[in-house]
Amino acid sequence: MPQEPLELYRDKNHTCLMFSDLVEEDGQAVQANQFLIVDDDTGAIIDPGGNLAFNELFMGMSKHFPPHKLSYLIASHADPDIIASLDRWLSSTKATLVISRIWERFAPHFTKLGKTENRIIGVPDSGGRLPLGRHELVLLPAHFMHSEGNFHFYDPVSRILFTGDLGVSMTSGADARVPVTHLAPHIPRMEGFHRRYMVSNKILRLWTRMARQLDIAMVVPQHGAPIMGKPAIDDFFQWLDSLMCVFHAMADTIPC
Ligand SMILES: [Fe+2]
Ligand SMILES: [Fe+2]
Repeated sequence: MPQEPLELYRDKNHTCLMFSDLVEEDGQAVQANQFLIVDDDTGAIIDPGGNLAFNELFMGMSKHFPPHKLSYLIASHADPDIIASLDRWLSSTKATLVISRIWERFAPHFTKLGKTENRIIGVPDSGGRLPLGRHELVLLPAHFMHSEGNFHFYDPVSRILFTGDLGVSMTSGADARVPVTHLAPHIPRMEGFHRRYMVSNKILRLWTRMARQLDIAMVVPQHGAPIMGKPAIDDFFQWLDSLMCVFHAMADTIPC
């Protein structure tokens, strides 16, 4: 039985919940987090996940927000663990998919014919702002981190930065509920993934330059534990600045 979602933030008008244990932990599928944000009477799911998570997430969110009133399915990118459940969400709700414009015409491959008609907001490369209740969610460009068309989502109310596949750690759904406040012991759980799935150190440094300008209480990835508090977040940025990705080594393996 999944636990109740972790409450990342709550005030009387605004809630951010994280589901971390909806996918069976039998070693076949990677642990993944899904998020429900509610502002007043508007609700959005960030990175709804694949078919493995659909039933549990649909039932789990129903206790906190009526699925038929859901406004958005917000996807950081188009990987299977992000939106493979799209067909079922579009069938069961009236929500609109918000995704990079470069994935807009690829997303219909996840659904039955015609299901996505007038139900996709394609986000331009430069990003933007998405109205959510009485506030807005900031759609921040994070391309090549690791996907070509990739966005992170900054919630100015909770000061949470939702970072998709950046900042992920390989852990169980239960451990993902424990925010990291001291980065050093956490690095071994992040390193292999970031070296292989991030494109280059240059893109990481461009991103940290942008992210340092935000007032961030928590960096919350799609896999593993949130990184919480200024000391750990500063250390995370510093770690990314010096992380060497395997892209250069991989280039040598391409036959020419
Ligand atoms: Fe991904
Ligand atoms: Fe992922």
